[in-house]
Amino acid sequence: MYNNYKTKSLMSQKKYKLHNKFTFKFHKMYKNLKTVAIIGSGTMGNGIAHVFAQKGFSINLIDLNTESLDTALAVIIKNLDRQVIKGTLTENDKINTLNNISCITSLKDGVENADLVIEVASENIDIKLKIFKELDQFTKPECILASNTSSISITKIASVTQKPDKVIGMHFMNPVPVMKLVEVIRGYATSDEVTNSIMELSKTLGKIPVEVNDYPGFVANRILMPMINEAIYSLYEGVAGVNEIDTVMKLGMAHPMGPLQLADFIGLDVCLSILQVLKDGFGNPKYAPCPLLINMVTAGKKGVKSGEGFYNYQHGSKELIVADKFK
Ligand SMILES: NC(=O)c1ccc[n+]([C@@H]2O[C@H](COP(=O)([O-])OP(=O)(O)OC[C@H]3O[C@@H](n4cnc5c(N)ncnc54)[C@H](O)[C@@H]3O)[C@@H](O)[C@H]2O)c1
Repeated sequence: MYNNYKTKSLMSQKKYKLHNKFTFKFHKMYKNLKTVAIIGSGTMGNGIAHVFAQKGFSINLIDLNTESLDTALAVIIKNLDRQVIKGTLTENDKINTLNNISCITSLKDGVENADLVIEVASENIDIKLKIFKELDQFTKPECILASNTSSISITKIASVTQKPDKVIGMHFMNPVPVMKLVEVIRGYATSDEVTNSIMELSKTLGKIPVEVNDYPGFVANRILMPMINEAIYSLYEGVAGVNEIDTVMKLGMAHPMGPLQLADFIGLDVCLSILQVLKDGFGNPKYAPCPLLINMVTAGKKGVKSGEGFYNYQHGSKELIVADKFK
């Protein structure tokens, strides 16, 4: 009996020590994440930069050209101003947030002192693999490499680096300053230490992280994209118009916005890329993108970011106006 107790007690002490050692290690790791490089300053990149900078992190926001960076800064300033008007941010906090952001066009310069890199470039596997090969060369060995990809395999991305244990998915939702969820995706080789650091870090940003495994589309887009694709098919087959489809889903399912408006908001090019990843990844034609979606992206109609998708956004007001093509 005594022996049993002793063994148990020794075992739990050992467990406790191990747990403490482990907790301490990842705690230290996530507390050391101070400089964050964000690659890509489009729809998502500027939102992620905004949220980190507001929490006091030093941000290197990287994009290929200065125009994208200028646009990103203008969006961040507009969104911070909105927070100041609402009374959720002081003018001083706004200035501090902006002072935390440096805009950079050289990947090497932007990432070499980073503790964490978040890749937020276009949803294209060739672009992402090229970036991660460079990150492997230019980042500090201990630097964590995250991707905000909506669907591309984290395991595949990690495979082009020498440190797949430090590669992870950190999938923020749009608009980043508003949406609470971060889908944290463990690649095949992602370590517990890195996963726990990213979970804790997400909480310090005021977000709610959910850990998922690495399969095409993860959870969010595996479920969302077939719904959006089906809504586009309903329009394509003449089941109903743009307004009717979105109204059915808003009023009937209590969705805050209809699937066609949401597709415009995400970016039709992004939706198309995700559907292709789902179709190829599962080898299942049920994910094949609707021909109308393919045509719209080919014609440059990408939704909000291009000024037109299922709705027209060029009038500058908040009113939802169906694009001429669908009237
Ligand atoms: N749009 C959404 O709602 C949403 C939501 C969650 C995740 N995502 C994911 O986030 C990522 C970015 O999506 P987005 O909607 O912000 O795209 P976007 O097209 O708005 O922006 C992409 C940006 O990346 C830049 N870029 C491209 N290649 C680059 C490179 N090699 N180096 C530096 N910058 C580069 C482009 O210049 C552009 O500014 C994608 O992986 C997408 O799947 C998007």
